[in-house]
Parts: sequence; C-alpha cells; structure tokens
Amino acid sequence: MHPTPEYAQRRQTFLSKLGQGTAIVRSAGFATMHNDVEYNFRQDSNFYYLTGFNEDDAVAVFAPHHGEHRFVLFVQKKDPEKETWTGYRVGVDAAKEEYGADIVYPIEELGQHLFKYVEKADKLYYHFGEDEAFNKRIVGLFQRSIRHYERKGTGPLCLEDISTVLAPLRLHKSEAEIGLMRKAVEIAAEAHNWAIANRQPGLYEYELQAEMERLFRLRGGMGIAYPSIVAAGANSCILHYVENNAQMQDGELLLIDAGCCYGYYNSDITRTYPVGNKFTEEQRILYELVLKAQLAAIEQIKPEAPWNGFHDAAVGVIVDGLMELGLLAGDRAEIIKEEKYKPFFMHGTGHWLGLDVHDVGARKTGETWHNFAPGQVITAEPGIYIRPDFKPFEGQPEVDARWRGIGIRIEDDVLVTPSGNEVLTVAVPKVVEAMER
Ligand code: GLY
Ligand code: MN
Ligand code: MN
Repeated sequence: MHPTPEYAQRRQTFLSKLGQGTAIVRSAGFATMHNDVEYNFRQDSNFYYLTGFNEDDAVAVFAPHHGEHRFVLFVQKKDPEKETWTGYRVGVDAAKEEYGADIVYPIEELGQHLFKYVEKADKLYYHFGEDEAFNKRIVGLFQRSIRHYERKGTGPLCLEDISTVLAPLRLHKSEAEIGLMRKAVEIAAEAHNWAIANRQPGLYEYELQAEMERLFRLRGGMGIAYPSIVAAGANSCILHYVENNAQMQDGELLLIDAGCCYGYYNSDITRTYPVGNKFTEEQRILYELVLKAQLAAIEQIKPEAPWNGFHDAAVGVIVDGLMELGLLAGDRAEIIKEEKYKPFFMHGTGHWLGLDVHDVGARKTGETWHNFAPGQVITAEPGIYIRPDFKPFEGQPEVDARWRGIGIRIEDDVLVTPSGNEVLTVAVPKVVEAMER
C-alpha cells in the first residue's frame, strides 16, 4: 500500500515549502481510558497526512536541505514478544521499504541522529502537542541549536509552528481525500436516513445512536467522527449533549448531530425533525427559519468569497426572522453589531472539515478574511436554541413559553468547487415535507 503516490506527492509539496527549514512531527500516543486500559490508537493527523504510518512512538523528520535524507523516520523496532500483546509493528526495515523514507532508525536512536538533520537548518518547524516529554525534548533541541549557531554559524534560531506550512496543504483536499470524505458522508447519510425513517415516540435516544454507530462500523468506517449527539426535546438546546439516554416523546423535536470517520476522514451532519409525525407550529416556523439561514449561508461558500460571508448571511436571515416573530426587537444593525441574537444562536456557522472534524486552516490574517478556494471542505450549520430557562439579551423581549425547549440545527458538509460549491451531504433530506410523515 505504501508508499502511495499520494503520500509521496504530499511530502514533495511539503518539503518544497520548508526552504532551509527542518520539520519534526511526532506521532500520537495512546490516550488512557482508565487505569492501564487505553483508547483505540488514533494517529496524529499531521503525522498521518505526511506518512500514512499508523503506529505510536514514531517521529518523522523532514530536512529538504539534507543531501541524502530528506524524509527520515524513527519507529519502534520489531519485538515479537511485545507485538503479541500490543499488535503488529512495521519495524525499521519494512518502514523504509513500505513508507518511502530515505532512512529509518529505531526510535531509541533519536537522540543520536536527530541533531544532524537540524544543525544546517535556518528554522525549526514543530507543533507543541500532547506529549509533554517530547515537547521538552524539542525545547532542548532548540536550545542546543542556538548554542550551535553561536559557535559554528549554522542552526535554527527560529522555532515556528508547523501549521504555517502544513495547514494550507491540509486545507486543500486532493481528489483522493475528497473520495474518502465522500465515503464518510455516504455512510453517515445512510445512518441519518435510517434514523429519520425509524424514529418514533417511546424510543430512547441511545437506540437511534446505537443503530447509527453500528452502521458506521458495518460499512467499513473507523467509527464515530465525534461523540454522537442524539437529543430530543429540550436536550436539543444543549450544544454538546451526549448523554443520549432520554425517552423520546411525541411533540418533541429530535436533533441528531452524528458523523462517521472513514479512512481517517470525517463527515459531520446534523438534522432536526419531529419525534412524531408533524412539527408543531412553533417548531416549523423556527425550522424554516434555520433552513433559510443555512441555504443563504451555503450560497456564500464559493471561490473568492470571504470566509466570514457565510456566517454573516446566516446571522442576517436569523435576525430578520426573529425580529419578524417579535423575539428580537430594535435596530437591526445594532442587534447584529452588538450580537443581541447570540442567546438564540451562539456558535459559528461552520468550520473546516477533514482529517480533524474541526480541521486546521486559518480563517483570517490580521483583520482580513481569507477567501474560499476550490478543494476546501467546510460545514454549514446555523441553529436556533431556546432553552426552557432562556434569558434574552438585556433589554430584549421576554420569550413566550410556546417557543421554549426548541433547539434546531441543520448541518451539511460543503465542498468548494471551481464554479461554486457542492453539498456533499445532499443525500440526507432537509425540506420540511421530508422531515414530516
Ligand atoms: N459535531 C461537531 C460540530 O458540529 O462541530
Ligand atoms: Mn460541525
Ligand atoms: Mn456537527
């Protein structure tokens, strides 16, 4: 499988952007579930993006200025006894063969070899991550390189977060990446459509969660992209509700925010609809408003459009709608400027999506918003949430009881294309008629 041209191509591009710098990327480690039991291993996204290598305790070094070794891997040695307990290791020899490194060392020899890939560099690229001991090691390496510079005249005097180089590459998805995201979307869409077809009063939230997550694995996904939110009634007003243990009642809304991870790439989909057959009057009014806001937002996701445009579009529609309903009052411009709508709509309209659910990539530089460009994938997910104990913005109207306990979010995954955008999650319906029965 490795080295695939895809990974080689990514490294080629990455190396070409490093100039005289050296980049060091640390693998993920195992996170503890409890005592000596660990969660499933999940590789660090930067590490995976550049190597496809899927083990812990590894380090990748990129040194474009080094004559022979531009891509160096440090990995765990093969150890049949340990592998019996913790699983197969690729090992030093096969890592070189299969993952395209110019040279591979056992991880134990990191201290012995690392500095020679740093001493001629003018900059050190690294991202301070979860591994505190390794972070410290990099600080030590950097201090050593400063001393080296003082004596020998070479070595990085500058330490820069790797995201300045890597995030723009990860932000722009290749055809292969988009293919994996389509698959992640396809599986999650099937699961959402199953929930839409099978929800009914009397079921528990976790019953829908269980079947959806079963499908994520059954269809070959790695599992959930993030903890699934299956929230009925007033639970829908809690943005990160994950208990999913309430019994669903007729007359309530059901908000499901669930996505699948496939081949390390994620989907992120939310739909909201009645637990029973029909929206109540208030639910339908607010649902149509959120849908209108979402469609307006999606329209602003296109090449050359500034990043903030889609959020501003959603806010504009939601403010107009809430003013019309008498839930917001006063001067429209002031409501927006002072964010008086925020008690109803308190989160952003979307985020980059990819290897991470909240994927890397800058949205603005200084005061200037970046423009969308083809190959980017972003979510569009406006919402309105009116908790039972809703408190309006100071000076704004009290909200009548009939609106309370309603939480609505509609979330799609949107690919920026040369001519505009493609809603990847189009297989899950969202018009009112499709959500009712
Ligand atoms: N489900 C995570 C999010 O929507 O951002
Ligand atoms: Mn999202
Ligand atoms: Mn979501």
